[in-house]
Amino acid sequence: MSELETTLQKEVKRRRTFAIISHPDAGKTTLTEKLLLYGGAIHLAGAVRAKANQRSTTSDWMEIERQRGISISTSVLQFEYNGYVINLLDTPGHKDFSEDTYRTLMAADAAVMLIDAAKGVEPQTRKLFEVCRMRGIPIFTFINKMDRPSREPLDLLDELEKILGIRSCPMTWPIGSGDRFRGVYDRNTQEILFFQKDTENKGKKIQAKKMQGVDDPEFLKSLAGDKEDTYEAKELYDQFKSELELLEVAGDTFDWDRVLHGQLSPVFFGSAMNTFGVEQFLNRFIELAPTPAPRVTKEPSASGEIKAGDEVPPTSPKYTSFIFKIQANMDPSHRDRVAFMRICSGHFERNMIVKHTRLEKDVKLAMPVSFFGQERVVVEEAWPGDVIGLVDTNGSFRIGDTLTAIKGIEFTGVPSFSPEHFASVIIMDPMKRKQLTKGLEQLSEEGVVQIYRQRGMGDKDPVLGAVGALQFEVLQHRLAAEYGVETKIDKLPYVHCRWVTGPINADQFSRREDSLGLVDRDDNPVLLFKSDWALRYATDNYKDLQFLTTAPAKKA
Ligand code: G4P
Repeated sequence: MSELETTLQKEVKRRRTFAIISHPDAGKTTLTEKLLLYGGAIHLAGAVRAKANQRSTTSDWMEIERQRGISISTSVLQFEYNGYVINLLDTPGHKDFSEDTYRTLMAADAAVMLIDAAKGVEPQTRKLFEVCRMRGIPIFTFINKMDRPSREPLDLLDELEKILGIRSCPMTWPIGSGDRFRGVYDRNTQEILFFQKDTENKGKKIQAKKMQGVDDPEFLKSLAGDKEDTYEAKELYDQFKSELELLEVAGDTFDWDRVLHGQLSPVFFGSAMNTFGVEQFLNRFIELAPTPAPRVTKEPSASGEIKAGDEVPPTSPKYTSFIFKIQANMDPSHRDRVAFMRICSGHFERNMIVKHTRLEKDVKLAMPVSFFGQERVVVEEAWPGDVIGLVDTNGSFRIGDTLTAIKGIEFTGVPSFSPEHFASVIIMDPMKRKQLTKGLEQLSEEGVVQIYRQRGMGDKDPVLGAVGALQFEVLQHRLAAEYGVETKIDKLPYVHCRWVTGPINADQFSRREDSLGLVDRDDNPVLLFKSDWALRYATDNYKDLQFLTTAPAKKA
């Protein structure tokens, strides 16, 4: 084995690349901060807590963020913990999330689903979960805010199954919640971690107490502490014990293979704000989460050695990577774009020359960067699982591009995801129609919004689609700043979009009041629906059609 291969094996083995999926306010920022407490942060792409008033520089981009008090940027955060290198892909959060949030999940090998114990599965979690399921990546669940009055833990597990359709296996189990939250019991080690508030935010080590199973008389004693009145402790203990017994009988046993295939979610309980249960979670997570996954090709190598549908293992010494996200105007002093690249195999070194499969040309990766707050840091080397930014002054990169040392290969792309917001665009100055067409074309290629048209209508009256409504604002802003076109966005009353395969007659749908037949950029038929009911009507009545939530693979 060559020296590179040996190093690759070592570097791949110690890497974990994941994203946190959650509904706003579940505690993602808090958990991220607490995870960082345990690791020395190597690179922070974008401030973790994007508090607007803490920004020292503002680009046009940041201006939108500032006005809305949100963070648009997907940041990549790398830290080292116990010898592991952890890449945490932060997904844009808050009310308006965008297609980028979904795309980021295409670069993650696992997801941590963060749930507010008082609220259970919320809409945004559900949408993000669907993307993880589509990819079949492992999903770990952290049930947060146990220090607050919570729903019954068994109910929460039931909800995971009923709403998300995923079975779960609790790794820890809570003893009480809210004012009566005493801690969590580790079902594997039989240790109890007694709840302590972390008022100093230091993430100090909490000593776990070893039990000889739940029947250990010490258990009840420990719950009572030095209190005379043991009534409350007894009540908590009885409830805890009966829940645990129920789990033993009716719950799923831990099965790593099912975890790896996204069929079983290991569940942990804690309180991110109190840095409680976080370390335990992190320790099990790095042990159980997968190393960087192999990537499947859709185009074979020129040599024929790698066929379409083959997997490139991360330990292959040949360099491969793909672009999953493009962000424009990150630097106020340059009107540039940064393409985010996930390394899939081989060793990345600055100034390396790689093949750009789509453009069929060689490109030199001279400006690989990671971000530290608003600062850019040049990256000298990186390994599979890592994500780096490429400054793209010439607009050479698109979402889904493969950059590789292996001539010809292309990875299966990053799909377009079904939008839920729709609009038409109105130009204020009709003389600028050409610029508008060009702007829409380029910005949709970049993935800012999706564009649909009526078949045979050319560029006329496009319908814009977005996963998050904020994407329209970004589009408007960039059309004005980069193409000199002022526009008005008129929201359309559609709420669902499906790509349709099968013998479709689009007119049939367009004739109906509640649906519209269009085509996407690649001429794939899409249907827009005004309500859940309209979508259900179509799926129930047109059994010969398939209604897809992601775009079918691009036609050759
Ligand atoms: P997000 O990124 O998912 O939107 O959530 P974020 O971390 O900002 O947390 C949302 C709110 O929930 C914050 O309160 C945060 O302090 C609180 N929180 C997070 N984890 C826990 C927990 O384990 N227990 C309790 N009780 N609260 C938790 P906030 O009042 O909105 O903001 P802040 O003033 O505390 O920053």
